[in-house]
Amino acid sequence: MNKAIHMSLPDATTPTDPSANIVSVRGITKFYGSDVHALEDVNLDFPTGQMTTLLGPSGCGKTTLLKIIAGLLETTSGEVMVKGKAVTSPGPERAFVFQDFALLPWATVTRNVAFGLELTGVPLKEREAKAKSYIDKVGLSGFEDKYPHELSGGVRQRVGLARALAVDADVLLMDEPFSAVDEQNRRKFQEDLLHLLSVENKTVIFVTHSIEEAVYVSDQIVLLSPRPGRIHSIIRPELDRSSSPDDIRRDKVYLDTVEEIWGNIREYLD
Ligand SMILES: Nc1ncnc2c1ncn2[C@@H]1O[C@H](COP(=O)(O)OP(=O)(O)O)[C@@H](O)[C@H]1O
Ligand SMILES: [Mg+2]
Repeated sequence: MNKAIHMSLPDATTPTDPSANIVSVRGITKFYGSDVHALEDVNLDFPTGQMTTLLGPSGCGKTTLLKIIAGLLETTSGEVMVKGKAVTSPGPERAFVFQDFALLPWATVTRNVAFGLELTGVPLKEREAKAKSYIDKVGLSGFEDKYPHELSGGVRQRVGLARALAVDADVLLMDEPFSAVDEQNRRKFQEDLLHLLSVENKTVIFVTHSIEEAVYVSDQIVLLSPRPGRIHSIIRPELDRSSSPDDIRRDKVYLDTVEEIWGNIREYLD
């Protein structure tokens, strides 16, 4: 018996409860020029304090949707609501975490972690103190004065994660943040991310094309169909998160949810 819970889809007219859903999108359609139909009528709620994953094949519009939510890209039609208000540009409550975390090669770990704060004009002493606290939280103590080329891939990812957390945005928009790391580090990161989220109370909108990763990290998984991206289904894996990571990955609920998503994907590939 599969314990993953299926959600009904909101439609363009469903009102949004800003206290339950920090971000909502209504009726998002996106064309690039007149030919490329990237998204079609996407309606979604992102519950406050939860991790929602956008999952789907390459080219289905995941990055497009994330950039629209970030306010970095205009919609063709539809609306993004943050805390109940329509937005059309970036804002301090949303932080976009670029693919592979994109560190500044010429800057130390401390400066990289503080970089988001530097952009928003936080004074040097204050941002260094804040950077230091996140450096400690993600286990980077001792690496403060190193440069990215001196670090392993796994440590670099950790720097990116600390930077994302340091900007103090309520909503983190993460576009395939673990795509360039090997499988072992990737698992370690998924665990670190979950741990940090459990103490930081952030809302995360996470993009991946890995089914296993989606099931492992998510409260809510939004499966998108191939282009134009539409919501195929919404799945809430009900994992017992008190188990160890290895036990979670061996758990029947985890395995069944992975299989179920495969089944859904087969359906639209046929
Ligand atoms: N700036 C752009 N101009 C034209 N087409 C684009 C642009 N950006 C993305 N696309 C196209 O839109 C579709 C969705 O892209 P994207 O959101 O990057 O998908 P995903 O992140 O799911 O791989 C793809 O077919 C892509 O080629
Ligand atoms: Mg993408």
